[in-house]
Amino acid sequence: MAACRLLGSLPVGLWGRNGLFVCRRNLVAPVFVRARSARAEEKQTHFGFEKVSESEKAEKVYKVFKNVAKNYDIMNDAMSLGIHRLWKDALIRMMNPLPGTKLLDVAGGTGDIAFRFMDYVRMQQERQSRQAVKSNQSPSWQQISDFYQQQNKSDSDLGSKAVICDINKEMLKVGRQKAEQLNYSEGLSWVVGNAEELPFDDDKFDVYTIAFGIRNVTHIDHVLQEAYRVLKPGGRFMCLEFSKVQNPVISRLYNLYSFQVIPVLGEVIAADWKSYQYLVESIQRFPDQEEFKAMIEDAGFYRVEYSNMTSGIVAVHSGFKL
Ligand SMILES: C[S@@+](CC[C@H](N)C(=O)[O-])C[C@H]1O[C@@H](n2cnc3c(N)ncnc32)[C@H](O)[C@@H]1O
Repeated sequence: MAACRLLGSLPVGLWGRNGLFVCRRNLVAPVFVRARSARAEEKQTHFGFEKVSESEKAEKVYKVFKNVAKNYDIMNDAMSLGIHRLWKDALIRMMNPLPGTKLLDVAGGTGDIAFRFMDYVRMQQERQSRQAVKSNQSPSWQQISDFYQQQNKSDSDLGSKAVICDINKEMLKVGRQKAEQLNYSEGLSWVVGNAEELPFDDDKFDVYTIAFGIRNVTHIDHVLQEAYRVLKPGGRFMCLEFSKVQNPVISRLYNLYSFQVIPVLGEVIAADWKSYQYLVESIQRFPDQEEFKAMIEDAGFYRVEYSNMTSGIVAVHSGFKL
């Protein structure tokens, strides 16, 4: 971008050995060198264990998820032995959403959280209707027929909506295809957007979720501020993320597995060692449970708490906007 902007203002261009050189009167200025030094001047951050400029990190993260999109679900199952499904189920049970809840799932990728949310809300709706019929000792045919009609109502009729927002078009594309295959036609919207600058109005959603997404962003504090902004007062923030393992023996085994097995699986299944090496490194660099809790509190959330799962391999952090 910096190079493009520079180029826009300059009239002549020539390719040199070290990149593009531009001539202006008697001045020969190496644009790439300037672009590189502009990047060097930019704030530094981490991409896994590597130190990079902030803009470089965003590009690299985009590339990782573009590369893994097609194999994302298979790899998730392979890496976690399917346990990611249980963690995601647990997140929805903790949320316990009622029919009518509006969910924003940020970094929603291929839709795993949103699909579970829709299933759960539908189940709640059916349970409520069944209880209403049962509580009536001798329901009329009309009541029974209303009950079955209610069951056939689509999710949008029930008023529940899930918006899946992700910065990566490829991930969303795979998610949409999955939604079609699984028949989630109603109540879902797919939006390309950056968690650090959400394309939504203030006070819009009842619940905000981010699952395995926040460790990939450049500024966690911006993401938390945005979550706070788009939630309605009374709304709930929930984050499912890898965390710090509590048991030292499990921690050692887990580290061994992460660094020795996951990149190998990435190479074997998806022919992509680097992306999975990054995923493992990004997990190591993410703040621990207490540190992250403090960050959520700093963003203005109340009643912030967390629950560890699988000995703290992952944790769900939750807080409310009052
Ligand atoms: C590990 S995947 C998680 C996907 C899904 N939530 C799940 O649990 O299966 C991380 C997702 O975060 C997205 N992501 C990374 N940086 C983002 C950002 N700044 N804003 C929105 N999404 C982002 C990636 O594109 C990717 O889809």
